[in-house]
Amino acid sequence: MRIVLGVGGGIAAYKVASLLRLFTETGHDVTVIPTEAATRFVGVATWEALSGNPVTNSVFDDVDQVKHVRLGHEADLIVVAPATADLLARAATGQANDLLTNTLLMARGPVLFAPAMHTEMWQHAATQANVETLRSRGVAVLEPASGRLTGSDSGPGRLPEPEAIFEAAMALAHGLQVDAPLSGRTVTISAGGTREPLDPVRFLGNRSSGKQGVALAAAARDAGATVRLVAAHMEVPAPAGVELIAVETALQLREVMLAAAAGSDVVIMAAAVADFRPAEVSGSKIKKRDDTADPVITLVRNPDILQELVEVRDAAGSSQLVVGFAAETGDEQGDVLSYAEAKLKRKGCDLLVVNHVGADKVFGQDNNSVVILSRAGSEPQSASGSKQDVAAIVIDRVGSELSRVFPRT
Ligand code: CTP
Repeated sequence: MRIVLGVGGGIAAYKVASLLRLFTETGHDVTVIPTEAATRFVGVATWEALSGNPVTNSVFDDVDQVKHVRLGHEADLIVVAPATADLLARAATGQANDLLTNTLLMARGPVLFAPAMHTEMWQHAATQANVETLRSRGVAVLEPASGRLTGSDSGPGRLPEPEAIFEAAMALAHGLQVDAPLSGRTVTISAGGTREPLDPVRFLGNRSSGKQGVALAAAARDAGATVRLVAAHMEVPAPAGVELIAVETALQLREVMLAAAAGSDVVIMAAAVADFRPAEVSGSKIKKRDDTADPVITLVRNPDILQELVEVRDAAGSSQLVVGFAAETGDEQGDVLSYAEAKLKRKGCDLLVVNHVGADKVFGQDNNSVVILSRAGSEPQSASGSKQDVAAIVIDRVGSELSRVFPRT
């Protein structure tokens, strides 16, 4: 492929040398166009040596070849990294004040921007509006990575790793979408009902079928996320394209969720976790003995996994989004929503998806009707339809909550 690699004036320009090598080593012909500011970070000689092609940022070099017309027209792919706030603004407003912006205006093939800047600049409404404009025109704009930035600050704004940009560029060149609402995000979802053993053949279980969790996993996958599904007992198969980790008990689920959550942008607890487990698990089958009194099962509390996930998240100061589900029934003391509001406060999660349950409602059924409550206090959002419809609405809401934390629109 003929690739134009536009380089913006940011400290991350040095990392783009590795990206250039990934392109050239896989046989692509790369023309580098740095901005004027970019050459202050990495010199023209470096780009020429690594690309094997002449490098300029002036429209007035080789005027006879009308370089900006040729480069823009002939490029099979244009990748801009790091895309600074200034470069995004110039591209979004169609400016043509250097060779790179001229080339972008001439582009006929796919264009990928990999932004890098300070968090405040990325989150600024002006930058976000520019990103939105570019995306609306079919330009792919990757989400910046989160982590340590140039100074002592940290947050979203780091240039994605060269390998990630390379993968995205290749996917884009093959017509795939690389900036879907959750692309680049990892979502861990628990689903199904835990089973708490009494003895080798008996357990205490619940009616959860896993359908809602599975639908959520599929919706998150379709929104571009990398999905881990931590599955307790389910009556439906896991969707393709997600990593499946099977568990049985609440304690196993807790262990796996805590480990999986560590690397996740979003954690969704859709599993029906048993609140109690038998205090003792018999190693052999409990016998029916006619000569003894009726057996009594003593239960002990299981840990509240959702609450613990929130505590771990808060202790780490991370901006991970934690979503809980609440199975509620009303009674004489309160209605479903008032119980759910109290549960949201108690658990401290960001979103609580509330189901009204009963023996004939929700569990195992194909349809669902929920209300989404948010810790930030926005109006309760109702969603109903098939479990797939509800999952799509929940995942959509997750996407918009993430953009609030790490704005992207
Ligand atoms: N949950 C959890 N660990 C538990 C129990 C529940 O992580 N031991 C999670 C569920 O996955 C769900 C949320 O907490 O996301 C609410 O579950 P629910 O059964 O409605 O609430 P409980 O905490 O069990 O509260 P109660 O039984 O008092 O209604």
